[in-house]
Amino acid sequence: MYYPWWYVPVITAPMLIAFVAVIHVFVSHYAVGGGILIALENRFAVVNGDKTYRDYWHKHAKFFVLLTVAFGAITGVGIWWTIALASPLATETLIRTFVFGWAIEWVFFVIEIVAAFIMYYFWTELNPKTHVIISAIYAIAAWISLVLITGITAFMLDSRGLFANWNEGGNFWYAFFNLQFLPQTISRTGGAVLLAALYVFVHAVWTLNENNLLLEKVVSRMSRPIIFGVITMAIGIVLSFILLPENVHRAMERAVLINVLTAIFLGICLIMSALMFFGPILHPKSISHGFAVSLLIFGLTALATAEFIREAARKPWIVDQIVLGNQIYKNDVEKFKITGFLRNSQWQKIPSDKIERGGMIFMYHCNNCHAVEYGLSAMKPLLSGEDDKKIIKDKLRSLNKPVISMPPWSGTEEELDDLTEFIIKISSTNKK
Ligand code: HEC
Repeated sequence: MYYPWWYVPVITAPMLIAFVAVIHVFVSHYAVGGGILIALENRFAVVNGDKTYRDYWHKHAKFFVLLTVAFGAITGVGIWWTIALASPLATETLIRTFVFGWAIEWVFFVIEIVAAFIMYYFWTELNPKTHVIISAIYAIAAWISLVLITGITAFMLDSRGLFANWNEGGNFWYAFFNLQFLPQTISRTGGAVLLAALYVFVHAVWTLNENNLLLEKVVSRMSRPIIFGVITMAIGIVLSFILLPENVHRAMERAVLINVLTAIFLGICLIMSALMFFGPILHPKSISHGFAVSLLIFGLTALATAEFIREAARKPWIVDQIVLGNQIYKNDVEKFKITGFLRNSQWQKIPSDKIERGGMIFMYHCNNCHAVEYGLSAMKPLLSGEDDKKIIKDKLRSLNKPVISMPPWSGTEEELDDLTEFIIKISSTNKK
């Protein structure tokens, strides 16, 4: 193996990625949507000479910059930390394909940070027209970074390019313009604007308690981004669903978990739309602290659920059609069935002990989706009641038959025997 494995007890490493990524997404979508709202509302206030309204956005910018820059940067680096350790081969593949994508993204990230600081610290010093331009620069740079990262995450779900497939020597652009890119950019843009409006509600209710007229104005101005967000997000999600590759459609039809998550997601979206319509849109005066917080919690939950669906539906792939969930390339499967799944590397030597070897195979081949004894999809309960070695072995030989989200068995018969012994051992120690 080219890389070490990473064993995260109980929750498994990918769940740790999901955890860090979801927290990041909560803030990074606000960083984009909030930037767009600040730019538009700042311009509106300057054009109409509305000083009190502009002052509110100055206050909001403080909250916004503090949260997005500090928190966004820490969790963003956290994503690199978790993906590089949990899925090094997939991370390597993405870096090789998108190295210029990240280079470009970092340029825009720097523009974004510099513009954010100028926007906030020179809010009153700069002449308003220049200030409006700076806030627009922030918004555009932040949105471009969303576009670039979406190209990459969309590629992980569907590597078919609009112009050519990755396997046909596809380069950055082929990979970037994949079928999921446009729908996901549309839905994420809508989602970002919508989420930002919900953050504005919470911030405004807390800071404008004493000024009801201003609060009402801020809330009622947010109807446009909310309506824009809901419609754009819906269009993006429907398009994305229609264009999903065949294997993801099949996974979505069969996996109970994905169906439950999808039902939760759609339910929350409907409830949230109704709440927003009958609350802030029709009665901007009526917004309370509890209502604003509940709306934001609904919004964040919907976003988290959507990310989980995207991740779950992708299995067995980490990168669609290229890297499998057992940390190997698709092209290696047939080869490794003959030459062996484990290989000596600078990280570890293949153990001579059979059970230890089986344990190492488990760590590479299964650990990404199954906890060992207890926890997420733990091995023991999955095989509970089964102690016939031959039955277990046959089951492991055709893993992907009952569950299409499992990668195919990718080792020799001898390695299969090692793995079976290991699994029988962990199951039987648990029975006592
Ligand atoms: C890419 C993710 C992934 C990998 C890697 C993976 N599995 Fe699974 N496996 C799943 C999912 C998803 C299920 C179904 C959900 C569940 O029951 O937890 C499952 C179910 C199972 C089941 C129950 C099957 C049944 O018929 O009920 C067994 C046994 C199993 N896995 C064994 C393994 C073994 C052994 C390995 C490693 C050689 C492995 N899995 C690797 C995702 C994976």
